[in-house]
Amino acid sequence: MKRKLLVTSALPYANGSIHLGHLVEYIQTDIWVRSLKMQGHECHYVCADDTHGTPIMLRAEKEGILPEELISRVWREHFEDFSSFHVNFDHYGSTNSEETKAFACAIFEKLKDGKLIETRTIEQYYDPVKSMFLPDRFIKGECPKCGAKDQYGDNCEVCGAAYTPAELKNPYSAVSGAKPELRESEHYFFRLSDERCRDFLQSWTTKGTLQLEASNKMQEWLKGELSDWDISRDAPYFGFEIPEAPGKYFYVWLDAPVGYMGSFMKLCRERGIDFDEYWKKDSTAELYHFIGKDILYFHALFWPAMLEHAGFRTPTKLFAHGFLTVNGEKMSKSRGTFITARSYVDHVKNTEYLRYYYASKLNGTMEDIDLNLEDFIAKVNSDLIGKYVNIASRCAGFVSKRFEGMLCGIDEAGYFPTVKRFGDAGQKIRELYEAREYSKALREIMELADEANVLINHFKPWELAKDPDQSVSLHLICSAAIEMFRCLTLYLKPILPRLAEEVERFLNIKPLLWEDASAMLGAHRINEYKHLMTRLDPKAIEAMVEANKESLKPQAHSPARHAESQVHHQEVAETISIDDFAKIDLRIAKIVNAEHVEGAEKLLKLTLDIGLGTRTVFAGIKSAYAPEALVGRLTVMVANLAPRKMKFGMSEGMVLAAGDGKGIFILSPDEGAAPGMKVK
Ligand code: 2FM
Ligand code: ZN
Repeated sequence: MKRKLLVTSALPYANGSIHLGHLVEYIQTDIWVRSLKMQGHECHYVCADDTHGTPIMLRAEKEGILPEELISRVWREHFEDFSSFHVNFDHYGSTNSEETKAFACAIFEKLKDGKLIETRTIEQYYDPVKSMFLPDRFIKGECPKCGAKDQYGDNCEVCGAAYTPAELKNPYSAVSGAKPELRESEHYFFRLSDERCRDFLQSWTTKGTLQLEASNKMQEWLKGELSDWDISRDAPYFGFEIPEAPGKYFYVWLDAPVGYMGSFMKLCRERGIDFDEYWKKDSTAELYHFIGKDILYFHALFWPAMLEHAGFRTPTKLFAHGFLTVNGEKMSKSRGTFITARSYVDHVKNTEYLRYYYASKLNGTMEDIDLNLEDFIAKVNSDLIGKYVNIASRCAGFVSKRFEGMLCGIDEAGYFPTVKRFGDAGQKIRELYEAREYSKALREIMELADEANVLINHFKPWELAKDPDQSVSLHLICSAAIEMFRCLTLYLKPILPRLAEEVERFLNIKPLLWEDASAMLGAHRINEYKHLMTRLDPKAIEAMVEANKESLKPQAHSPARHAESQVHHQEVAETISIDDFAKIDLRIAKIVNAEHVEGAEKLLKLTLDIGLGTRTVFAGIKSAYAPEALVGRLTVMVANLAPRKMKFGMSEGMVLAAGDGKGIFILSPDEGAAPGMKVK
């Protein structure tokens, strides 16, 4: 029976790069989706960037760009990273979309109609310098338990104590450094404490929707009183304004899961899929969310309760997974094990190695998985190259050279019962994929690969090839080997989709589907064998780890990273005295306007606020910056440089930038600097 499924992975935040920890989930989901699609089911896989909230707003501000610009840049980076790892979304969207906004508002209205929304006045820390309420993570101070300095507003990283921001001693704003004040504000709450929610969740969390471990955890939470959920935030906030509540925004976690719907709606519009068939209350389509165990609370309580009471269907199942450790420890920037997707691609290149390794570790539980880098190299080389690819590389050449690429029909002759077993294994392997027991599936597959190698070693085609009288035997064993290789490729295809495509070309066959498991090739012409995969070089792994140590400070993708690798160091200039230096009046300047200059190839016209009024500066930075990316940003200018008459007008100073003739990087001060401050 053809099933209809909608599958999602959690939406990554649009303020950071994708790293190997993220990829556990996307690779896990992608493998699952591919194996279902290979069975002919109608299966859609959607995801999106999670774009709202304070951290994204502040990061954009720090970079001197609009949040919209930041999220569109990060969207491209994320999308490229996922594509490199063959994570094949049917649609990759953004929560900052009309579709997501419409659903978020509609759900809110429905909940309001159902009397599940209420407003309440709360007290919250406010940063008087930045004029904004501060999320817990942006308040720091001394731990009320152990006195450790610079701890976050929700828990202490030194003694592990949990508390509220109000309990911190000597609190300060992590944004401006200012002392925060407690202020009142009206917030919107989703009344999760309502008995309709409790009754519903009680039943929903115990009807097979969750893994046992997760269900038990939820029962613990449900035993106590469920607190109402604060779903609003005050301006300034990057997100969706709440209908009829100017200055109030939906909290990012309200619209994030709604992004699943928004992204799917875009896909429906693109492909003419019936959205309601998947989301209406009595839908018979299946809905699955792959998530990390850390966000179970949102997905197993808030999200189904929202959907249920807004008149939509609820998820069929949630699949939670554990965290990634590297070499047995938490990923660490100083050890170089906080590895970005991009740096993996740059150094290791072949992303299917990692897909294979993750699959060899994954199962249907919430246990953490470990990427042991030595084991990674050993496993890829011994399994993929030594066992699997080896089957084809040892036999294919004879088929081309001796039999003009023709295989002989081993099926009819009834030779090699081993080969038949390959086809028969298909059902079990398919079921293991569906149960997300990829490590078990791979064990089955590699056992088959071992059998194939035993058979080949027994017949020794390289020996048979020396004796013209053994031509029939040579043809049989090589054809059998290719047939077994075809089957293994089919079973590995959800994990190694790119390699499978190459094998399909080599075997001269249509894209492999699950139903092809027992459909042997028979007398069939194959193409010439080309090298399929190279060994994983330990040096590439070493270089990757080193690179992640080096890139500690500059973020991947930032222009600074390029600068590091390209710089040719010039000799230090002639020594000057402190008095010489003191003659230069350097000031923090805010770029209040930036525009192109007609007819100028390299210049941008900048209007700079240095506290004492504005200055106009023509800066040769057009090749490196779009004017709109500069507006609002702080930089450093030489304020007492003699004005210079240029072709396009008077230039009243100079902005500071680093450069090596290839790139230009203007300077920015740290958080807290203000226009007019002297730089000494
Ligand atoms: O934890 C996170 O990274 C969130 N951005 C996940 C959101 S998942 C879904 F709800 F959108
Ligand atoms: Zn403490």
